Amino acid sequence: MLKKFNLLHSILGIFFKNRPYDEKSIKISDQDYFVRAIILDDIKDLLSIEREVYAGELPWTKTAFLVELQSSDPHLYLLIQKEGKTIGFIGCRIFGKDAHITNVAVATQHQGSGIGSFLIREVLEFAKSNECDTISLEVRISNKNAQRVYRQLGFVSNTIKPRYYTEDNEDALEMILFLKEE
Ligand SMILES: CC(C)(COP(=O)(O)OP(=O)(O)OC[C@H]1O[C@@H](n2cnc3c(N)ncnc32)[C@H](O)[C@@H]1OP(=O)(O)O)[C@@H](O)C(=O)NCCC(=O)NCCS
Repeated sequence: MLKKFNLLHSILGIFFKNRPYDEKSIKISDQDYFVRAIILDDIKDLLSIEREVYAGELPWTKTAFLVELQSSDPHLYLLIQKEGKTIGFIGCRIFGKDAHITNVAVATQHQGSGIGSFLIREVLEFAKSNECDTISLEVRISNKNAQRVYRQLGFVSNTIKPRYYTEDNEDALEMILFLKEE
């Protein structure tokens, strides 16, 4: 019986971990949005959001997106659209018991509307369904806006990674959200 239960548990576990993200229409503060998993054809839209929010800089190239989207590690890459236009995205990849947020950006005009927080919460559910203990990310030490959003969601600062950003040698703050209390 135990063996049968274990087998069923493993099969269900695999099913839930590998389940594709169900696209959905959502409301945030009475505004309508549509959320779905990112496909390769979306990369050009992600690059234009990056260009806009990082003043022309591209922290992630097309190749970086391609590598992430085709990774064999469990991952979740989501975009959010308003009236058919992509206005934000998030990426997360699981390393062992940690779900690492690799990238998150919301078009400037739509920032402060709860979209970034919504996307992070979706990753939180993904991390939980993959039995992760933590969610982590790196953020520029100067990016106080983003740090405030993460803190509001329960992330705490952990370590400073000196000269993490090779373009300009800025330090990164590593932030962690603990999913399981001791
Ligand atoms: C950081 C970032 C992803 C956050 O996304 P966002 O959509 O702006 O975040 P939210 O709207 O969820 O939260 C931002 C603020 O809006 C508030 N907010 C949350 N829900 C809201 C809602 N429904 N209506 C209005 N405001 C809301 C939050 O409380 C927060 O308030 P605060 O500024 O007083 O702390 C986004 O600002 C961004 O893309 N920045 C540029 C790129 C970047 O820095 N990326 C992170 C790299 S690590």
